[in-house]
Amino acid sequence: MLPDESLEKVASEIRVCVRCKLSLSRQNCVPGDGPNSARVVFIGEAPGKNEDKTGRPFVGPAGRILDDALHKAGIERSRIFITNIVKCRPPGNRRPSKEESASCIPYLERQISIIGPRIICILGSSAYSTVLDGKSIMKDRGKIIKRNGQEYLITIHPAAAIYNKDLRQVLVDDISRLVSYL
Ligand code: URA
Repeated sequence: MLPDESLEKVASEIRVCVRCKLSLSRQNCVPGDGPNSARVVFIGEAPGKNEDKTGRPFVGPAGRILDDALHKAGIERSRIFITNIVKCRPPGNRRPSKEESASCIPYLERQISIIGPRIICILGSSAYSTVLDGKSIMKDRGKIIKRNGQEYLITIHPAAAIYNKDLRQVLVDDISRLVSYL
C-alpha cells in the first residue's frame, strides 16, 4: 500500500472518475461509508436513485431493509463499511456491465486493502459473481467461504426482500451468523 493511501484519497479519486460511461449520467458518485477500522465490509451492486442523489450507499428502500437487518443482528451501521461494486448509478438501475464492473473494481480492492476487514459480506448475485465468480446466491447464501486468505459471508441483496418479505428473516439470519463470527 502507498504511504499516503486512505479511504478519503480513494473517495476523492472516485468523485472525479471518468473511467466508464456511468460517469456521464451520474449526479453523485457513491464511494462508500464507514470507518477505516471497520471489521466488516458490505458489498452491494450499484447505487440507485436515492444513493445517486445523496452520494451515500444504501439510503433508499433496500437500505432500510439492510439497516433493520443490521439492527436485529446486533451490529451498528456506524461500525461497518458499506460500498458497491460500481460507484456510480447505472441508468434505470440496470445491472452494471462486465466492463463497468471491471473498471471500478480497483477502487473496491484499494478500499478493502486499507480497511483489512475480518470478513466481507457479499450482498446479492452481482457482487457474488464479480468478487468470487459465484453462480447461485440462493444455493450458497449463509455460507462463509475463504478465498486467498480473505473470509466472505454470502447473502441475498436486501432489494430482493422488498416484495418477498420472507427473505427479510433470511438476511437477518445470515448477518447474525456473520456477527457471531466476529
Ligand atoms: N442497491 C445497491 O446495491 N447498493 C446501494 O447502494 C443501493 C441499492
